[in-house]
Amino acid sequence: MRPYRLLYPMRTYLVVAGRGEEANVMAADWVTIVSAEPFMVGVAVAPERYTWGLIKKHREFVISVPDLEMLDDVWIVGTRHGPSKLRETSIELVPSKAIETPSIGNALANLECRLVDERTYGDHTWFVGEVVGSSYRRDAFSGDSPRLEAGFLAHASWTDFVTFEEKIHRPSE
Ligand SMILES: Cc1cc2nc3c(=O)[nH]c(=O)nc-3n(C[C@H](O)[C@H](O)[C@H](O)COP(=O)(O)O)c2cc1C
Repeated sequence: MRPYRLLYPMRTYLVVAGRGEEANVMAADWVTIVSAEPFMVGVAVAPERYTWGLIKKHREFVISVPDLEMLDDVWIVGTRHGPSKLRETSIELVPSKAIETPSIGNALANLECRLVDERTYGDHTWFVGEVVGSSYRRDAFSGDSPRLEAGFLAHASWTDFVTFEEKIHRPSE
């Protein structure tokens, strides 16, 4: 058992970086909110990822929220290196609103980030970005809540993914 697996299940996201022919997507579990106001998010990316060099170069990235239907594509971008893998996927790159890095048109949501800080801890670099634009699918969110039937993806162990049951549990008081 690798100790970091003790924090699983975790949500799985996609990270888009680069632009034009060089635009690339990787899978990332290690994503977190860093600040609510201003809204900032962080992602841990290992230096050997193609994505790492693209974030360094362009100082932007997009965090996209895939659904269960995108699982095969999540697996391809999470196990292969570099932009050519995108030809084997149905990932649809579309212009973002506020940055040059594209968003994913068929994702549940996209957070457009401008890099504000980076720091390497051990074998990963935390890239922290301010969210300067966003988009989301209307069928996936209602008010301030996710619609669980949209099939939000979570990662249990290496090849095993789950989604959320629609039953809601509330604390008793
Ligand atoms: C579900 C899943 C989650 C992953 N999470 C991360 C992560 O948080 N950070 C990371 O550096 N790599 C993560 N990876 C590995 C990268 O997605 C993988 O190495 C990918 O091939 C990198 O693509 P690139 O070299 O084109 O950037 C994950 C892979 C999978 C399948």
